[in-house]
Amino acid sequence: MIRLGIIGDSRVAHSLSPHMHTYVLRRLGLEGSYEAFALEPGQVAGFLKELPARGLQGLNVTVPHKREVIPSLDELDPGARALGAANTIINDDGRLLGYNTDLGGFMDAVSAKGIGMSGKRALVFGAGGAARAVVAGLLELGAGPVSIAARDPQKAAGISPGPGAVAIGLDQTADVFNDAALLVNATSVSAPAESPEMHELVAGLKPGPGLELVMDINYGRADNFWADLARRAGAGFQDGLAMLAAQAARSFSLWTGQKVDAALYMQALEERP
Ligand code: ATR
Repeated sequence: MIRLGIIGDSRVAHSLSPHMHTYVLRRLGLEGSYEAFALEPGQVAGFLKELPARGLQGLNVTVPHKREVIPSLDELDPGARALGAANTIINDDGRLLGYNTDLGGFMDAVSAKGIGMSGKRALVFGAGGAARAVVAGLLELGAGPVSIAARDPQKAAGISPGPGAVAIGLDQTADVFNDAALLVNATSVSAPAESPEMHELVAGLKPGPGLELVMDINYGRADNFWADLARRAGAGFQDGLAMLAAQAARSFSLWTGQKVDAALYMQALEERP
């Protein structure tokens, strides 16, 4: 019997992780549970201290606690250390080990599309935690140069891990986009109603001949202007469900030692209630 869970704030009630992991446990014939826990900032350290007593062997961490968990963890994998954020915890007999499977999950989602990024230009929109993981993943895949575009270029510069990733303003995206192979939206906006300004900017972008893929970290938008851009360019499009499935498969392998194909997690998402 394995006991797993996820911590977040009140939004954790809408997380798809309980459904995905419960589905996979059942499909693999494993006895176990996966529960959601809503915590206020400030309650995180106390909850992690009680993790062994609660009998939880593994935990996911979602917004806004991915950074707050770090000081409570005994060890960090290189990704979690580099990003200063963990989304997966193993309770190893009371020692808490932190990992960041968002990073690998993003890389898996790019690779699953059969796209090699070595030496190719990528343009990333956004300057939050998701953008930080995306940029780190792109550099690990050998992409370059990577441009990070945000409303506040200073904030974009703050998430650059080194000279391979350069911050730009939103007004500079048209030039860079022209010879990009990959565009990733790591902002929280994908539908015109969420940001008319971003919609206008994206609708005005002219894709170059080398554009292969547009990825959006969001999902579930009926009207998605990033998908429109991909269609207009004749490029592939992938929404955030692929990354969600891939990070979940990686977390599951860490907790159980059992390798699971991200495709099983995609199936869980397709069959979600
Ligand atoms: P996460 O940690 O999940 O990435 P976040 O820190 O809230 O979430 O980051 C969301 C990103 O989307 C931010 O970079 C945000 O821009 P700012 O840094 O300027 O706040 C970006 N974002 C949100 N709404 C946006 C909009 N209307 N136009 C452009 N960028 C937007």
